[in-house]
Amino acid sequence: MGNMPSDVEFTNVSKVFGTFLAVDDISFSVPKGSFFSLLGPSGCGKTTTLRMTSGFEWPDAGTVRIAGQDMHNVAAYSRPTNMVFQRWALFPHMTVAQNVAFGLEVDRRPREEIRRRVAEALELVDLLSFADRKPRQLSGGQMQRVALARALVKQPKVLLLDEPLGALDLKLRMQMQLELKRIQREVGTTFMYVTHDQGEAMTMSDQIAVMNKGKIEQLDTPQAIYDRPASRFVASFIGNTNLIPVEVVGTPGPTARVRLGGLEFSAATGTAPKGGKGTVSLRYERIRIGADAASRDTRTRALVKDVIFSGSAILYVVALEGSDVELTVEAPHDGTSAPIAKGSAVDIGWDGGATTLFADD
Ligand SMILES: Nc1ncnc2c1ncn2[C@@H]1O[C@H](COP(=O)(O)OP(=O)(O)O)[C@@H](O)[C@H]1O
Ligand SMILES: [Mg+2]
Repeated sequence: MGNMPSDVEFTNVSKVFGTFLAVDDISFSVPKGSFFSLLGPSGCGKTTTLRMTSGFEWPDAGTVRIAGQDMHNVAAYSRPTNMVFQRWALFPHMTVAQNVAFGLEVDRRPREEIRRRVAEALELVDLLSFADRKPRQLSGGQMQRVALARALVKQPKVLLLDEPLGALDLKLRMQMQLELKRIQREVGTTFMYVTHDQGEAMTMSDQIAVMNKGKIEQLDTPQAIYDRPASRFVASFIGNTNLIPVEVVGTPGPTARVRLGGLEFSAATGTAPKGGKGTVSLRYERIRIGADAASRDTRTRALVKDVIFSGSAILYVVALEGSDVELTVEAPHDGTSAPIAKGSAVDIGWDGGATTLFADD
């Protein structure tokens, strides 16, 4: 991201709780006006990273800059950030408009300005007609939008969001993802978003930092992270993938030759194994089955051990001929042909670009 202006910049930041290293020497920068996500499993250090941005937590080492300014002695209330939590914590006795106005009242803004900014914020989250309702008259999704309006009305440089959709059901969560993305584009505020849900991060983000055990394992666009995972952890955390134990033939360059039973094929090198063994990642949907396998770079015979119908897709668990390795194949359920029956012998195949080789952890 070289010379693009960044709103948040971490340089070699660490955080220790007791003897536990919760955040381990991370560096990254969030481009101004972008939607940036911290993604990783529970306990990997996402919230701690966000709290060091807001000033609720202080780094033990390293530097946090916001809009170019070093934050080492700037208190939380003086930072140009605002936070949206999973639990929206609206004031129950106030109307929607009063909830949104609250921060501006505290700042003693002029009455007319407050009225205008509250209306703009409610318009942005599509709740202008709900201005006079009380929180208990709203749905969960609407309450979260009020919380968002309340944070945005203060015009922070950076909006910090910690799993804000976690309490909503799946359908609503997906609607809100699109809604949040629209709002972010419209206001142009930098969003720093924490989630453990990879689909959510994929849908909304310009860039994702994938975290594991206090470190950033990869920082890139959603598609680059999906197509070219930098580590075995990233490959398995994002999307659904087969992790196949292989023998490495020769010395890996940008690509490697690998062997699985009697089958030899090429894989892109993610992290080069030291010894002769490694793991290949091969995504479910990159494997073709039946007639579709015919023109692929690598082909083999397999036995269908299980067929799982999941609506838009059919999952096949297949055992490869000549090895005891089982793979999962995801085929689209597009209604053009009947599913392949359990017990069938089939061809499966994939192309060279579908596989990535990693060193074993
Ligand atoms: N105040 C604290 N005191 C002690 N340990 C903490 C504290 N806050 C977080 N931790 C620990 O630090 C690790 C990272 O926590 P957190 O940043 O909340 O992870 P995430 O948000 O990714 O789930 C966890 O193991 C957590 O238990
Ligand atoms: Mg957390």
